[in-house]
Amino acid sequence: MKTIFFTTVFLRWLGVTSAGVPEKLGCANLPLSPKQRDLCRKKLFLLPSIQDGARLAIAECQNQFRHERWNCSTGQNPPVFGYESTSGTKETAFIYAVMAAGLVHAVTRTCSQDNMTECGCDSRLQGGGSAGEGWHWGGCSDHIQYGTWFSRRFIDNAVKNMSASRGEHTLSTMNQHNSEVGRQAIHRTMSTHCRCHGVSGSCAVKTCWKTMAPFERVGVYLKERYEHSVQVRDRSRRKMRRKDQRRLTVDKQQLLFFNKSPNYCLEDRRQGVVGTRDRRCNRTSSGPDGCNLLCCGRGYNTHLVRRVQRCECKFVWCCYVRCRRCESMNDMHTCK
Ligand SMILES: *[C@@H]1O[C@H](CO)[C@@H](O)[C@H](O)[C@H]1NC(C)=O
Ligand SMILES: *[C@@H]1O[C@H](CO)[C@@H](O)[C@H](O)[C@H]1NC(C)=O
Ligand SMILES: *[C@@H]1O[C@H](CO)[C@@H](O)[C@H](O)[C@H]1NC(C)=O
Ligand SMILES: *[C@@H]1O[C@H](CO)[C@@H](O)[C@H](O)[C@H]1NC(C)=O
Repeated sequence: MKTIFFTTVFLRWLGVTSAGVPEKLGCANLPLSPKQRDLCRKKLFLLPSIQDGARLAIAECQNQFRHERWNCSTGQNPPVFGYESTSGTKETAFIYAVMAAGLVHAVTRTCSQDNMTECGCDSRLQGGGSAGEGWHWGGCSDHIQYGTWFSRRFIDNAVKNMSASRGEHTLSTMNQHNSEVGRQAIHRTMSTHCRCHGVSGSCAVKTCWKTMAPFERVGVYLKERYEHSVQVRDRSRRKMRRKDQRRLTVDKQQLLFFNKSPNYCLEDRRQGVVGTRDRRCNRTSSGPDGCNLLCCGRGYNTHLVRRVQRCECKFVWCCYVRCRRCESMNDMHTCK
């Protein structure tokens, strides 16, 4: 239960911080668990990073799901994700993964930029490389270990032992597992960049460093994990267990969920589902954003919308661009 408590507290807090409550309130006035408050006080310099991490994660979730029935919309009031943060569905899995990853990303970026005493660039690489092949490590390699540690401490807390190996989960171990998939996503999408030196760009010598991928890449990676997420059984509801269910060995990179998702078609206030009514759809697309799928077969309305654009732009010597205003009428479709 502890993890659930911590994580809902975490999500509540994100709700508060992303809703723009002044940071000056500090740790004492935020809805944190005692342990989180303690961590917050000890690592006060990370307060803005936690906020950034939350924003990054929410924005990327909405980006990845912009064409889907569930579009990762967040409530104005905490808890941010409402039903989805506790439903034990694939969506819960994605939320936990992207939140944990966002925190690692933001904390690591702060560490790299500011090279602080507590955390900085990855110094283990300094001086290494291969002189024979003409390259060496240099610059600032992102040191994700600190951010990963912080994300674990802040989000996961106390549950030490996961029973993933036995294929049995509770909601808290499931959340924790999925958070870890998110943190590993940062690790797995890292890449090496190099800069050339040498006479007139001959690239005789290269300086290389490791960087995290832009968070959008991490989002794409996690969205793929979401598409291939695996249903596991809920240990706390043994009665529901099917006798013939074989024991799954769960891959560390797979997102896990317990419950089938609702279809997200119709509004269900009790579950915080907003439904797809009035969502904009694409009449010609056969993907999830197509009117057929997005509107769940209810049909759609067509609106004529006027669009004004700059057009026929010409460069005028010297030095500006002159354009005309062009109007066009476009069809827009929204779900019934
Ligand atoms: C970061 O700080 C350490 C120690 O203060 C220093 O040795 C290192 O060169 C710095 N790295 C960068 C990239 O500024
Ligand atoms: C965690 O659980 C596994 C399997 O139940 C057990 O073998 C292992 O010793 C446990 N680890 C800790 C640190 O308790
Ligand atoms: C998600 O869809 C709802 C309507 O179903 C809309 O009100 C909301 O703005 C959308 N959220 C995002 C982030 O696009
Ligand atoms: C609608 O879908 C088609 C086919 O996938 C695509 O070519 C087109 O750009 C989409 N239109 C909009 C407005 O997104």
